Amino acid sequence: MFAIPTSRAFVTLLLAALAGQTEAEDASRSGKSGPDKPIMLRQSGGFRQDHPSPERNPNMTLSCDHGYVEYFQPWRPRKTSIVMWHSSSTQSFQNRWDGGEGFKDMFLRREYPVYLWEGPRVGRANWACNATSYAPDYRDQGNFVAWNFGPSFNECEYAWQQATSSRYQEFDSEASVNLETDAAAIAADSGKLGTDIVYLTNSASGLRAQMTAVKSNTTNIKGIVCYESYGYVFPDDAGTKPGFGSNPFGPILVPVEEFKKLAEVPAIQFMWGDHRDDSFLYLNQSRQAAALINQYGGNAEVIMLGKDKGLKGTTHIAFADLHNEKVAGLPDEILEVNGLTEYY
Ligand SMILES: *[C@@H]1O[C@H](CO)[C@@H](O)[C@H](O)[C@H]1NC(C)=O
Ligand SMILES: *[C@@H]1O[C@H](CO)[C@@H](O)[C@H](O)[C@H]1NC(C)=O
Ligand SMILES: *[C@@H]1O[C@H](CO)[C@@H](O)[C@H](O)[C@H]1NC(C)=O
Ligand SMILES: *[C@@H]1O[C@H](CO)[C@@H](O)[C@H](O)[C@H]1NC(C)=O
Repeated sequence: MFAIPTSRAFVTLLLAALAGQTEAEDASRSGKSGPDKPIMLRQSGGFRQDHPSPERNPNMTLSCDHGYVEYFQPWRPRKTSIVMWHSSSTQSFQNRWDGGEGFKDMFLRREYPVYLWEGPRVGRANWACNATSYAPDYRDQGNFVAWNFGPSFNECEYAWQQATSSRYQEFDSEASVNLETDAAAIAADSGKLGTDIVYLTNSASGLRAQMTAVKSNTTNIKGIVCYESYGYVFPDDAGTKPGFGSNPFGPILVPVEEFKKLAEVPAIQFMWGDHRDDSFLYLNQSRQAAALINQYGGNAEVIMLGKDKGLKGTTHIAFADLHNEKVAGLPDEILEVNGLTEYY
């Protein structure tokens, strides 16, 4: 029950509030992160990333196939923007599957501006220029396997329910990769996402971030972190064959001069969850792609979260795992090593 405070109780409340505020400011100034550090925002909002509209006649156009960005600006921001690019659910970056803190809040506590990006047709950017369709396919159990989930998800039914019900249409085809990355490259070059961008990606968005770097004409992209990327970009002289059909998960071949743009990105990390076998197609491709990027003077590495970093039980979506706070420490390393921790 709410009761009007007596004047003495009110003074006590006021002092407690002021003390809380001072602690918050101290924590903010010290640059220390962690769950006790408050999140102080200067601004949050969103905008559409435009795309040329098709015309039916000079008087009838359709604004469609635009991307969508939701942004969060810390009170005292660092210069590097963390652009979170999900494969099929923004929720994967908002929270851990069991409802605990997600990467969005973890990087806001670290005082990085955070951008949640949705490419044309996906999520909140679903107003398409083409006809689209959806065919239900009973795949929950298949996802449990594909996402490398294990016993912890069996024990936390809520986490499994959240994970399996949060996804939306993903549109996997090379045409869709091109549509999404045309918009993403314009967004990256525009400065509206900042001028030092580190992408955090998952699954099919890993391929999209690589293509965005190939299409970008600026040096704004400073890092690409891929959690279990399905799909890689290869130079057209490496003897790689494109995939079948609509080439949903690559490989996408680009002229070697364009591929070299990946070598100009200061840091690229291809991360793999625990229990991924060396014979896994996309792990194999990540090793080949990293070797080619490095052959052109780049800095790409393949990291096995289980074997190399001791993060046992990490899944396909490691940043939303039940123990994601350790996983968040790895992007910290590349931000530190590449001088991307500066404040404005
Ligand atoms: C477009 O609008 C202009 C001005 O109202 C009109 O003169 C023209 O006929 C229209 N064109 C078409 C193709 O409808
Ligand atoms: C949109 O439709 C056109 C015409 O059918 C097709 O060529 C194109 O690939 C489609 N684009 C995407 C991104 O699906
Ligand atoms: C980059 O430059 C090329 C060549 O001028 C141009 O075709 C392309 O649209 C540009 N990319 C972006 C994202 O603006
Ligand atoms: C990828 O797989 C092929 C065929 O199994 C193998 O010959 C090659 O050594 C593998 N490449 C890497 C980088 O693991």
